[in-house]
Parts: sequence; C-alpha cells; structure tokens
Amino acid sequence: MKMLSVSDADLREAARALSAGKLVAFPTETVYGLGADVFNTPALARVFEAKQRPRFDPLIVHIAELAALERLADLSVLDAQGRSRVSALGEALWPGPLTLVLPKRPEVPDLATSGLPTVAVRFPSHPAAQKIILWSSGAVAAPSANPFGYLSPTRAEHVAEQLGGRVDYIVDGGRTDVGVESTVLDMTESVPRILRPGGMPRERIESIIGRTAVNGGVSREPASPEAPAHSPGMLTSHYAPRTPLLLYAPGEMRTLVYKEGEAYLFFSAAGRERWLQTQGKAAEYGAEAGGGKNRLSRIRVLSEEGSLTEAAANLFDILHDLDKAGTERIRAERVSDEGLGRAINDRLRRAAAESKIFPDHSFLQNV
Ligand code: TXA
Ligand code: MG
Repeated sequence: MKMLSVSDADLREAARALSAGKLVAFPTETVYGLGADVFNTPALARVFEAKQRPRFDPLIVHIAELAALERLADLSVLDAQGRSRVSALGEALWPGPLTLVLPKRPEVPDLATSGLPTVAVRFPSHPAAQKIILWSSGAVAAPSANPFGYLSPTRAEHVAEQLGGRVDYIVDGGRTDVGVESTVLDMTESVPRILRPGGMPRERIESIIGRTAVNGGVSREPASPEAPAHSPGMLTSHYAPRTPLLLYAPGEMRTLVYKEGEAYLFFSAAGRERWLQTQGKAAEYGAEAGGGKNRLSRIRVLSEEGSLTEAAANLFDILHDLDKAGTERIRAERVSDEGLGRAINDRLRRAAAESKIFPDHSFLQNV
C-alpha cells in the first residue's frame, strides 16, 4: 500500500492506478471511498473481497461532471416528471452528498449493481475526488473504505488501519467534512424514496422536488445472499463499532451513574454539563483531577455548541476513538430527528442494533 497526497502529481498517479485496475482509497466530502474503475470487473471483484462485502450489496458509482450521468443511467426509462426531478436535483444539489438510484444502462457491469436494474450515482464535491475521477475513466465505483459492517472512515488513518493490506493506494486528504455517508434517494418510484438518510438533509431535497418517502423502520437481511435486498444498505447491523453501544433518548442519560471503564457520548456540552452536575462531584471529572484527562477522553460530545452539522462531522471520528480506547461499552444519546440529525440517529441505531442491547426501545419505531 502506498500513501499519496492530494497534490496534482499524486492524484494523477491515483487516476492512472485506477485505470490500470488498482484499488485506490480516496477522500470525499462524506467519508473515504474505496475506488475501482466501474468498467473493470476484476477490480470490482477485489473491492468486494477487500471489504468482505456480500455481493448482494451494490456499489455507488462516482462521477465528476453531469455529462457522465447518461453513460451510466438510462433516464429515458423514467417518465417526464422523473426526468425533470433528476435534472433539478442534479443542478441544485450536485456536486454534494446525494446519491441517486436510477435505471441502469447495460454497459454498467452487473457486479457493480448486484444484478439490480438500477445504478446508484453520486457526484462528490471533494476536489481531490473529482480530479481522480476526471483523470481516470470518469466513473469510479466506491463504497465506503471500511470492512463491511464497521464504522465508515473519516480519515486516511482509519483506512490504513482497517484495509491497509488490501488496497493499493490511499490518498490522504485529511479529515472529511460532512462525516456521514451520502443520502441515497431512489428516483425510480413515483414518490422518490430515501433508502438511506445521509449528508443531504431530506428538507433540502424536498425543497426542490417536493414530497419524498422514507424507508419504514429497519429492514432485514435478504433471505438468501443471491437475492438483492431492495435497499441493501439498510441492513440492521451496519456502521457499528466493536464495542457494544447503548442508545438513549435525548436527555435520558442524565440519570446514569458514571462507571469507570465506560464511555459516554453526549450531543452537546450543555447535556454533558447537566449530567456532570448530577454526579455531584463534577470536579472529579475535571481535566486537573488525577486521571481526569483519561476520563474526559471517555466523556465526549458530538458538538460543543449543539450543531447537528458539527455532530455529523464528528460522529464516526469519535466512535473510532472510543472503539480504540478499550472501553467496555459506549452509552450514547440520540439527537433531534431533523436535518442531519436523521442520519446521525440512523447510524447510532445501527451501531446499537449490532451490540444487541436496546435500552431505548423507541429505536424500533420508524426513522
Ligand atoms: O457518501 C457515500 O455515499 C460514500 C462515499 C464513498 O461516496 N459511499 C458509500 O458507499 O457510503 P457504500 O457502498 O458504503 O454505501 C452505498 C449504499 C449502500 O447502502 C447500497 O446498498 C446502496 O448505496 N446502493 C447502491 N446501489 C444501489 C441500488 N442500485 N439500489 C439501491 N441501493 C443501492
Ligand atoms: Mg458503507
């Protein structure tokens, strides 16, 4: 594995490697992707292999100019309203953290789409991603660069730790901005359906195309590995740390008693401070107190100010940290279900589902 920078010379090397069938992990504005040329089926097979990803879970194809869309998607299959929605979304929200599921062209290998008649397409806004895509074939399949089911990578180091031996190159663009994956929107239904809440808030999408539907609840794995799930990324256990995670309703963590060896993840500094007060010995957790730094490193907030955007950007980064800190369990609270909060809650629910411990039964209700 070779590390590359985001200099043009290095990005050209990355693009050449993709064209030669190599696997290149690169930053996008959401999370790091594990890229392969979408038209190179042996390279696609290596992506599934590297991630240990089941073949029924299709990949997102990344483009870096609107004109490339029609090479992958056959928009003529959509009705006039569907076509106008796609172009409205493309013009308003691309490049950005939005993936559109569209009727696929036969040229797109079935391996990329798991045999589905649709292809997921995204136009990322990250300049390094755009250059790599433009300077290679113009269409790069890239799932998140993590082992299947684990937390998505928001830093090059995460990719190196988790997949280092399995990729040819990692382009280091620092920490990603958005921090959660793109919103996946199925455009093939009469009311477009959000298959995965993500970095593009539903409100933004609806301001452009009107009403959208959302997948109800948490779907289950398909009965057989051959049968593609309707929205395969909605597997219950996904985006999960190895440490068990317990999820609480907003404010509910206030009643918890601090236990050594556990980690606590609050939405904002206000929530953390309220909780520290109820412990009745807040000073003990101060940075000055003996062992305080260590403790504070396990008492974390997604956003000091309580910003959902900042919380999304920090989510996987903090979960990676806590997962490496060797804690027994992570106790985390949900955030409000609006804007990026939906994507944050979705990832937290899946992380909790993986640990099979559900103190907060409201996670069973719809997103
Ligand atoms: O932000 C992102 O989307 C990141 C960066 C790298 O672009 N990529 C990413 O890819 O999250 P991945 O493979 O981890 O998630 C892709 C999601 C999966 O949930 C997959 O099931 C869904 O998109 N998907 C892909 N093609 C689909 C299709 N044809 N129909 C329905 N869902 C599809
Ligand atoms: Mg993923």
